[in-house]
Amino acid sequence: MNAPDKARRRVDALREEIRNHDYQYYVLDNPEVPDAEYDRLFRELVELESAYPELLIADSPTQRVGGAPLGEFSQVEHAVPMLSLDNAFSPDEVVAFDRRVRERLESEADIHYAAEPKLDGMAISLRYEHGTFVQAATRGDGRTGEDVTHNVKTIKAVPMSLRGQGFPTVLEVRGEVYMPLAGFEAMNAEARRAGEKTFANPRNATAGSLRQLDPRIAAKRPLTMFVYGIGEVQGEGLPGTHSGTLAQLAAWGFRICPENDVVTGAAGCIAYYERIGARRDQMAYEIDGVVFKVDAYAQQRELGFVSRAPRWAIANKFPAQEELTIMKGVDWQVGRTGAVTPVARLEPVMVGGVTVANATLHNIDELERKDVRVGDTVVVRRAGDVIPEVVRVVIKRRQKGAKKISLPRECPVCGSEVVRAEGEAVARCSAGLYCEAQRKEALKHFVSRKAMDIEGLGSKLIEQLVDAGRISTPADLFDGTRINVEILASMDRMGEKSASNLMAAIEASRDVTLSRFLFALGIREVGEATAENLAVHFGSLESLIKACNDPESLVRVQDVGPIVAEHIRAFFSEEHNLDVIRKLTGEHGVRIQTFQPAQYESEAFANQSFVVTGTLSAMSRDDAKAAIKQRGGKVSGSVSRKTNFLVYGEKAGSKLEKARELGIPLLNEADFLKMLDG
Ligand code: IVH
Repeated sequence: MNAPDKARRRVDALREEIRNHDYQYYVLDNPEVPDAEYDRLFRELVELESAYPELLIADSPTQRVGGAPLGEFSQVEHAVPMLSLDNAFSPDEVVAFDRRVRERLESEADIHYAAEPKLDGMAISLRYEHGTFVQAATRGDGRTGEDVTHNVKTIKAVPMSLRGQGFPTVLEVRGEVYMPLAGFEAMNAEARRAGEKTFANPRNATAGSLRQLDPRIAAKRPLTMFVYGIGEVQGEGLPGTHSGTLAQLAAWGFRICPENDVVTGAAGCIAYYERIGARRDQMAYEIDGVVFKVDAYAQQRELGFVSRAPRWAIANKFPAQEELTIMKGVDWQVGRTGAVTPVARLEPVMVGGVTVANATLHNIDELERKDVRVGDTVVVRRAGDVIPEVVRVVIKRRQKGAKKISLPRECPVCGSEVVRAEGEAVARCSAGLYCEAQRKEALKHFVSRKAMDIEGLGSKLIEQLVDAGRISTPADLFDGTRINVEILASMDRMGEKSASNLMAAIEASRDVTLSRFLFALGIREVGEATAENLAVHFGSLESLIKACNDPESLVRVQDVGPIVAEHIRAFFSEEHNLDVIRKLTGEHGVRIQTFQPAQYESEAFANQSFVVTGTLSAMSRDDAKAAIKQRGGKVSGSVSRKTNFLVYGEKAGSKLEKARELGIPLLNEADFLKMLDG
């Protein structure tokens, strides 16, 4: 059967639109439409392709995860070998590299170098013929790699066909496939919950994903790719510099690292190393150094290669993020919900430029799986803002008599029984808020930024105040006989000024939104989002507490299932908790902003989609979002044609620009406040 022209045209239009959205989302990190809209387009294309199979083509966006698992990998010969890089470990070695380059080129002038982060993933080569993706290969030994086309196809940042025109007939693009840290952490956390094996680091996770024969596994892994060079090229279309080439590749739809730069001379290289190094811990992905490449291809050709590495490039390495050390013992830490977590005490070691003396072992299951024993040599890893962890034991170095570790039977803080529910990885102290450790953690959570937001009341001060017997529940914070300027000023590292600032912050926190207050209570599994859903649904604490008598009514709230409902019910049936709440809202004057759910149902902003950006002065962005939702409006993280209003504050950036371009009505803070007042 021949597909009607109409279906043919629609299929073309859908592919074009989906490719554009993939590009916006995965390459530019700037999605244009909400996920739901994307899913609709995708589903429509799937349906049309299955109704008219003759319209199906290999590079359709629907074909990224396709095909049956392979029996084995086939080999790919690299037309241009995939080289490695020489390393420099100090500024002196960078200076020496630059000197060698200038001497060989007999250049008086400073050299321009393309400077790039050295990404810690897996090198992959992508082959395009007439602008269409045909093959992906690993580096292998540099001459021959493995065909991983089936897996790389599932990575949405890799274009299946090039955008624009003017590309060479054969174009091999090279770069690094990697896993962003957030995706890696989420994946490991999920594996830990499910009692499955975790990956040691994002690089192993990346390699492990690409080495799968079944592409459905890679498709589930949060992989992405930055390209950093070219291999075989047949035909015209590329500029004469490396940096120009990368800009051209970006225009054709590839993802290029935004940290890339062009610097001048050894001094420029060293400054770049410092600049990127200072930001390494905040970056969304792992890098193990920076790379400097002579920018002009003519100069690169003149310099040539030595054995397996080019003379025109060097990798300037950062301190390693994994090191070996000795595990001296285990401390058991008690968290806010009573979770008893093993923390390894280590022989202090420098990891990534910071001394590490403690590292998490996550939970007793992980500890058993890794079979970590006292006296073992272990690999510790520290990356980004993530807590250092013990990754594995170096079994070969285990000494006789290395001692196994077992879960303590009693809480190390309060001595109550430690219980581990059937099938749970987490063991808990059974004492609840009677355990001092849990109380301290609960207080820290209560005052934290997304909860009551009491600035100046840090962890150390809370511990001091609890240890001094000044406070034991959140209500005590608002009790003037327990907390006042004199008492605060008498604490370690506190003065009159910081004490009175803190008193002002406590005072200011007395007016609080219901969602923040609910989040602050620290009910198990009630995070920010759930707290907000509960607030919007019930409108007041009283209605929520009443609803606890009827389990059915709690599960009616968005994202609240039977387990969360049970935690909520249990929390509000505890007399101790009710007593704290009564004190807070009664004699201590905490005012929870309540609203009639009816007000929400009046839906002043119903069907209106808002984006909030920049810094507002009268309220936080979170409060602004809550106010919108309370009026039935929707809040989105990105501007698209579907956005009805953009609310902007100071220092608004790209979202404001984009809204301007799309002609979306803009509201400054004053306009927005007026609108809230209705
Ligand atoms: S250029 C001839 N640029 O480092 C130049 N490599 O030791 C070859 N890598 O296997 C590579 N980030 O996996 C280059 N910005 C970057 C890189 C980079 C990471 C890796 C790559 C390669 C290894 C070279």
